[in-house]
Amino acid sequence: MFSLPLLLLGGLASTVSATPKACSITTLSCQNTTVVSDLCCFNHPGGQLLLTQFWDSEPATGPSNSWTIHGLWPDRCDGTYDSYCDSSREYTNLRSSLISAGENDLVDYMETYWKSNSGTDESFWKHEWDKHGTCISTLETSCYTSYTAREELIDYLHATVDLFKTRNTYNILSSAGITPSSSKTYTASAIKSALQAAHGKAVTIGCKSGVFNEVWYHYNVRGSVATGEFVPAAPDGTKDTCSGSVTYRPKSGGGSTPTTTTTNTTPAPTSTSVPSGSGYLNAVTSGSSKGCLISAGTWYVSGTCATYTAAASGAGFTLTSSKGKCGVTSGKFVCSSSTTAAVFTLVGGKLAYNGVSTWYGSAVPSGTTQIDVYTTSASGRTVALELAWSGN
Ligand SMILES: *[C@@H]1O[C@H](CO)[C@@H](O)[C@H](O)[C@H]1NC(C)=O
Repeated sequence: MFSLPLLLLGGLASTVSATPKACSITTLSCQNTTVVSDLCCFNHPGGQLLLTQFWDSEPATGPSNSWTIHGLWPDRCDGTYDSYCDSSREYTNLRSSLISAGENDLVDYMETYWKSNSGTDESFWKHEWDKHGTCISTLETSCYTSYTAREELIDYLHATVDLFKTRNTYNILSSAGITPSSSKTYTASAIKSALQAAHGKAVTIGCKSGVFNEVWYHYNVRGSVATGEFVPAAPDGTKDTCSGSVTYRPKSGGGSTPTTTTTNTTPAPTSTSVPSGSGYLNAVTSGSSKGCLISAGTWYVSGTCATYTAAASGAGFTLTSSKGKCGVTSGKFVCSSSTTAAVFTLVGGKLAYNGVSTWYGSAVPSGTTQIDVYTTSASGRTVALELAWSGN
């Protein structure tokens, strides 16, 4: 569609073009029944990938209303794992190589959300890469057709951040009434069910002395970690370290009584979390409004926005357009007569699915092109957008 110069121009601001092999293998990692030999397109032996997140309250790291990134770990499919797989690729000066590669936005994001609680953030990123990233078969340098220095490291960091953006643990839990509290306790099973409902598969939760501080989301991958699709999977072993009642401490509390009064009860539904009646879904990308969704659920810039009707359901609401009920099918937002309705919420006025309000498309639509909108950035869907509800 686009000419090459245009693509390159567009690429300058965001990512330097990566060149991992295009993958046609569709077998999910850990799920093969015969030998899959191309390990550039099939993660092996580390076929179960874990997106691990922290909630560090003492000392607090990261924003007080967000979990932070721990790492992306390849488990063998049986709960064991390899570590430190290639000492020749234990790179130093990660931050400066990211900056020289034009990855300023990635660095900014990592400096906010990928925090060490003991050393420099950069030393933590390095540790995660050295220990776990070097064990990912699809990120071997031989998997790149025109490899440039540290390209696979950058792909590892991007994949981790992109996946993290799809699992907003803080919002998922708070939608279920589970918010940080210096006095309240929650059962491990309530936490697990809220997270499982969002992820679609059981998650692993971690506690230290009864203080809830980790969540692990497990995936199998179709294709490579750099360009493939992450599919939620059941944990390949039971590693929960929380049981019974646990505390989920506020980051600001620091163990002492917070000076401001915070209510830690289940938030009452407000008019902003469940819209009533009908409205439009306006797309917002890179801070500016650009088009809206039309009745099939696709993103369009040159036509009339569809009217969506919202109806309260469960902890949120369902949506219907003239084409039918709206849902999320294979990760895609779609409205049709055969779609199973999904329950959505509004987070800050933006349409959220599983508590996450970021959606992804393969491009910003132009002319009469319609772009499908997905819940993940897999398969080259590099444009992040939000869908602002506007009542009518
Ligand atoms: C799955 O593929 C891996 C990698 O080629 C291989 O070692 C393993 O034996 C395969 N599993 C089965 C059940 O064939």
